[in-house]
Amino acid sequence: MPDGSRTRPTPRHVAIVMDGNGRWAANRGLARLEGHRRGADAVRRVVEACPDFGVETLTLFAFSTENWSRPPSEISGLMTLFRRYLRRDAAELVEKGVRVRFIGDRAPLAPDIRALMESVEAQTVGGERLTVVIAINYGGRADIARAARRLAAEVASGRRAADDIDEAAFGAALFTADVADPDLVIRTSGEQRISNFLLWQAAYAEFVFAPEFWPDFDRDAFARALSAYGARERRFGALAE
Ligand code: IPE
Ligand code: IPE
Ligand code: MG
Repeated sequence: MPDGSRTRPTPRHVAIVMDGNGRWAANRGLARLEGHRRGADAVRRVVEACPDFGVETLTLFAFSTENWSRPPSEISGLMTLFRRYLRRDAAELVEKGVRVRFIGDRAPLAPDIRALMESVEAQTVGGERLTVVIAINYGGRADIARAARRLAAEVASGRRAADDIDEAAFGAALFTADVADPDLVIRTSGEQRISNFLLWQAAYAEFVFAPEFWPDFDRDAFARALSAYGARERRFGALAE
């Protein structure tokens, strides 16, 4: 349990399943991609609001391992938006003191996107006001399976004893190795499911399901989700204080 997390009214780490771009667009007779485009604006708003609200880490679910089953045109549209965001926003993120990191398997991504990701990570490495973790081609099960594979390889090569594999060792083999667990997971668009997001890491997270579609998620909606969190009592299996 992170220090003071039982009594702290503001979550240090908020993770968001940014859902509802397609429905936002469909409701307006627009193409789904227009919803994704407006979703990028919502990302900028939330990133900007985090330091004001005392949030230190923000994890954003941008593309899941299952999203490859969408039509090729939507996937390539999303990839174009990632490129644009990484190119256009890097300087501003540096200026705002934001450190950006990525989680997920990068191998299937286009080489130029991988290069942009590395470049943004390198440019923003000194950011101390907020850490933004972007999950691209991320799946909770894939994360866990990869960690198991890495630990198994260490055992097979004699670098680690099987008995050494405890929760801390397992956590350290995940993509999120040096990121604390999320205190709050928000999912927009009214859907109430985890969709293979941080399965291991969200073990004791609070969940807030916001009714807004992601492109409509603004500062006020964010404040409402944070205040819902503030009213929760986190017990971590113990008794109420
Ligand atoms: C979330 O919005 C963005 C991604 C999954 C990339 P959706 O595209 O899932 O929008 P809906 O859920 O179809 O409305
Ligand atoms: C979860 O949303 C993934 C992201 C937001 C990137 P989906 O829209 O893909 O999830 P399902 O299919 O509704 O469960
Ligand atoms: Mg969706």
